[in-house]
Amino acid sequence: MKTACSRRLAILGSTGSIGRSTLDVVRTHRDRLEVVGLAAHNNWRKLHKQIEEFRPAVVALYSEEAAARLREALGPSSPVAVRAGMAGLLEVAGLAAADTVVSALVGAVGLRPVLEAIRARKKICLANKEPLVVGGKLVMEAARAAAVPILPVDSEHSAIFQCLDDGEARFVERLIITASGGPFRCHAAERLSEVTPDEALRHPNWEMGGKITIDSATLMNKGLEVIEAHWLFGVPFDRIHVVVHPQSIIHSMIEFQDGSILAQLGSPDMRLPIQYALSHPERWAASGKRVDLLTLGSLTFEAPRRETFPCLELAYEAGRRGGNLPCLMNAANEVAVEAFLDRRLGFTDIPRVIKATMDSLPFTPDLTLASLLEDDARARRRAAEVIATLNAARHASRPNVPTPTGSEGGLGP
Ligand SMILES: NC(=O)c1ccc[n+]([C@@H]2O[C@H](COP(=O)([O-])OP(=O)(O)OC[C@H]3O[C@@H](n4cnc5c(N)ncnc54)[C@H](OP(=O)(O)O)[C@@H]3O)[C@@H](O)[C@H]2O)c1
Repeated sequence: MKTACSRRLAILGSTGSIGRSTLDVVRTHRDRLEVVGLAAHNNWRKLHKQIEEFRPAVVALYSEEAAARLREALGPSSPVAVRAGMAGLLEVAGLAAADTVVSALVGAVGLRPVLEAIRARKKICLANKEPLVVGGKLVMEAARAAAVPILPVDSEHSAIFQCLDDGEARFVERLIITASGGPFRCHAAERLSEVTPDEALRHPNWEMGGKITIDSATLMNKGLEVIEAHWLFGVPFDRIHVVVHPQSIIHSMIEFQDGSILAQLGSPDMRLPIQYALSHPERWAASGKRVDLLTLGSLTFEAPRRETFPCLELAYEAGRRGGNLPCLMNAANEVAVEAFLDRRLGFTDIPRVIKATMDSLPFTPDLTLASLLEDDARARRRAAEVIATLNAARHASRPNVPTPTGSEGGLGP
């Protein structure tokens, strides 16, 4: 039986790391949470299992082929409507039966579904940070105009949100975003060009999807989070600081004008910020691992190695200059990370591809959804060209290096 404060959820990206953790939270709070819509990209088998367990009315797969396989597996008598493509994602994002949309897609492809959820006046629990990076102004203006709350799921932004009492935003001196430092925090700079995707995927503290794990290793994830924090909390870039905190226990902090610092602590388990976004303004009980202060040992802090990990600075630059630069940067990063995971690009080439893409495409200060779609596609093509050029040069000196094939993805048709 549902309680008075039950929520009806549409989960975009249900087969991914955040999506599965969200479903874990649903399992714990069946009396409060109900699933009415699910969406993913390709993984129809996992979605099929989720349908059997959670019985949503509508699901979508971005891949038409995967959607056809799922329809076949469900059979003709299934009551579940299976949609496909961007139209399917938009339908799930705007489902009349849902009051809350958990946005857990990965990449800029989540921008249009988030805008659709805002248009349909859903409460949004936002894990998918790239839409705010690419179109933060558009998203926040649309949310304000529709009086739609956007609740952060990213642990750092959830921490800031939890530390910020209503009415206190004007007293904030700076936001202090913590970073684990990733798997290469202590690596010698000259060794980084040789690191493999397997090494980069071994995050010391968090279990996450592949793209964000690589972004954590390059520190681009922190850069994306700085831009995300700028839009969510309206704090200028020069007052958003990044501090490496290898234990990942303090998830972020706020320093107020009087020098007081408030921090939020918790075990590195995404179910906590996901649940908080879902339960807000309440707090529900949770069974996850607790922080034991007596066995914790020391909490340490250090400055990020900005020269060794240039993606952080590229994100600050894109955020400060604004316009279409964050969109260009994000698209180039998505293409470069995919190429690195496919072993078509070296780890230290990722920032090179991003910088070359940002530097070579025209800057535009004013954005519309249409202009962002164009910029995103243009930057993906340019980044693929840069990767091809880098590889061609390398191929000439080392003939066994494979040549790149370009990239799919993006904001979608
Ligand atoms: N994981 C974390 O701990 C964490 C923490 C904070 C923030 N975030 C943010 O949350 C987002 C999700 O991260 P994640 O780690 O959960 O990623 P993930 O494990 O890679 O999952 C991504 C999800 O999005 C779906 N998807 C990808 N491309 C899609 C497309 N074109 N159309 C429809 N669905 C698509 C995937 O479906 P398939 O399975 O079918 O491919 C999957 O369900 C990212 O923006 C990340 O930065 C994650």
